[in-house]
Amino acid sequence: MKACSSAPGKVILLGEHFVVFGQPALVIAINRQVTVKVSKRKDKALRLVSDLGISGIFENEKFRLENGGNDSKIFLEPVRIAAQTVLDKFEVSQGFDIEIYSNIPAAAGLGSSSAISVATVASIGKIIDVTLSQKEICDLSLVSERFVHGNPSGVDPAIATYGGAILYQQREGIKRLQDLPTLSLVIGYTGLTRNTGDLVGAVRGRQIRLPTIIDPLIELAGKLTLNAVKALQDGDFHKLGECMDVNHGFLVAIGVSIIALDKLVDAAKRAGALGAKLTGAGGGGCMIALCAQGTQEDVANAIDKAGGTPLLVEKVETGIQTWMEK
Ligand code: PMV
Repeated sequence: MKACSSAPGKVILLGEHFVVFGQPALVIAINRQVTVKVSKRKDKALRLVSDLGISGIFENEKFRLENGGNDSKIFLEPVRIAAQTVLDKFEVSQGFDIEIYSNIPAAAGLGSSSAISVATVASIGKIIDVTLSQKEICDLSLVSERFVHGNPSGVDPAIATYGGAILYQQREGIKRLQDLPTLSLVIGYTGLTRNTGDLVGAVRGRQIRLPTIIDPLIELAGKLTLNAVKALQDGDFHKLGECMDVNHGFLVAIGVSIIALDKLVDAAKRAGALGAKLTGAGGGGCMIALCAQGTQEDVANAIDKAGGTPLLVEKVETGIQTWMEK
């Protein structure tokens, strides 16, 4: 028998990076997801296989690569940590095969690594027969998230666990946003992968060097997110789009945008997007455009022409889901 879990990817509509400094972020789960399937082994090893063509075995503190390039361990290690965190907590020393399937582009700011950690934690919990609440799944996933980048806000595992739309703040935790109007969104992927930890560190550096400038900006970004939430709840897409535009400017100011992202943002705006900004850590990865009804295709074409890969996404309500399979 296999214990299986799926968890969604995400887009941050407003507040990335500033959320690491305690400000709120507005984030939605999207209709791209990962599935992690876990089955028992006869030995004590953890064998990880990804549909990206990467596989390897962790046994007795050693790693043996089966398939994939030099950076395969960087991809697999957080998954091992997610699994091991649950096994250690419940004092289980059994080995498992862990299969990872994903249709979320990796290292692109769409939450693939967190979705994998969340789904791994849930599947391991299921196969060792312990009941984990959503909060426990989210908290346990944070261990692996911390390994990936030292100082995560926790927004990514939260949305992968709970799904839907949430306002996330480190101290307050999650606030579910319900009965929202339908959003018309297009993601533009630069095709450039990046390291979230490096970008979070670079922002911290700028804040340390220029505290009198960056600290007020961080606070303003929090206010901006709350303005955007109100606009979204009121169905005022023009105002929401404007908040996204201002947020992109703030992200440029803290140094996390690059020309490839700015080009896609500009192309989307010229094609009529109501608002556009980078989403996630920046430095590559993706941007997100909010479209007026019926203009999604024009915006997608403009992103394509500007050298990006457009992805049409929708909000999904489902977060983590777990089941057994033969
Ligand atoms: O996972 P990414 O690369 O989309 O970045 C997550 C958002 C950050 O605010 C940059 C980091 C965090 O932990 O909140």
